[in-house]
Amino acid sequence: MQLIKNAKILENNHLVTRDVLIDGKKIVEVSEHNHSEFDTIDAKGAFLSSGLVDVHVHFREPGFDYKETIATGSQAAARGGFTTVIAMPNLNPVPDTAERIAAQIKLNETNGMVHVKQYGAISADLTASKVSNIAEMAAAGAVAFSNDGKGVQTADTMLQAMLAAAQVDKPLAAHLEDDSLLHGGVMNDGEQSKKLKIPGITGLAESSQLARDLVLAKATGVHYHVAHISTKESVTLVRIAKLQGVNVTAEVSPHHVLLSDTDIKGDNALFKMNPPLRSQADRQAVLAGLLDGTIDMIATDHAPHGTAEKNKAFREAPFGITGIETSFQLLYTHLVRSGVMTLETLLQRMISAPITTFKLDAPTGVAVGATADLALFDLDHQETISVADFESKGKNTPFIGWQVYGKTRATWVDGKLVYQSF
Ligand code: DOR
Repeated sequence: MQLIKNAKILENNHLVTRDVLIDGKKIVEVSEHNHSEFDTIDAKGAFLSSGLVDVHVHFREPGFDYKETIATGSQAAARGGFTTVIAMPNLNPVPDTAERIAAQIKLNETNGMVHVKQYGAISADLTASKVSNIAEMAAAGAVAFSNDGKGVQTADTMLQAMLAAAQVDKPLAAHLEDDSLLHGGVMNDGEQSKKLKIPGITGLAESSQLARDLVLAKATGVHYHVAHISTKESVTLVRIAKLQGVNVTAEVSPHHVLLSDTDIKGDNALFKMNPPLRSQADRQAVLAGLLDGTIDMIATDHAPHGTAEKNKAFREAPFGITGIETSFQLLYTHLVRSGVMTLETLLQRMISAPITTFKLDAPTGVAVGATADLALFDLDHQETISVADFESKGKNTPFIGWQVYGKTRATWVDGKLVYQSF
């Protein structure tokens, strides 16, 4: 038995102080005072929540272990307060068959400090036009499907993928990117790209493919999920599609909520990711979408890279930034503390929405009988984001030096303490 004393938990939208008793993997008591002498952690008034859930991470193993491994990525997840994540398939080999999915799931379970679920690839090597065997991969344990990192270029490939995913009732997560509109761009196309003389990517590369997919999603009834939404037009399209009854959900990454292309002051690839940081108007639109529920959830798109490759010029460095260790702190500080969003809504977007829409087996509250996947956040402790503190191998974040609240003090997975910092 383990006892977490003096934790604040949310009950009917109010913070109340409670002692939480864990037996094995489960919470067995939530009470005002527990006087037992079990193995005790004093939460000292910190906020205890169910663990956060991230449907979009890159853990790089196998194939790119120098950037991240399942062990370091999941340790970073635990430090960020996450207890369940879904890992993208842009690995080497790409998990695009039932055998590879089974092997990947085994590796995730052996090496993961948190629950690491797995996406199967929509098509071989993320680029083939022929759709992989989605039914077999689902039977082998893939929880959803995506070619993240690459857009699905033809309507027929997307249609076949949707029909197959609908058959097995699994979400299809789309990385939206029409290659014919890229023209070698590496940041958002706009005033800032012109000023910096860095080639731009039009937002139409995302929204035009989304428009295509929403028509196909309506026809097939698949659960279609928009990965890392970034433009105003995309938010409008999702809003309209939802009104029309399309089974669509969307995620936004913290950087698209908090930054825009005007934050890129020079040739600094720590601000390079795909989709790129968009305009202020886009940023405001994704924030509005997140607030009104058009955008269902936050997902970090945690994309670690090596320091040397990210030190290259903007045109040459790889796309992607780390995010799993900073997302709760950044959003708690800049949305909740600043009064834009309630803590309940932020947690809904980071816990219950991903669990419900992806049908994950994970707890959505601190309650008797729930699995003890828990995170303890110190909402009043202020600190500066420093990559020296990162568990991730990836030190590539544009948020270095930001002042944030909400430090993770401890994380439990299945009742096991996997991270602590008191
Ligand atoms: O910035 C990105 N990095 N976007 C993606 O879609 C892929 C990711 C990666 O794997 O590095």
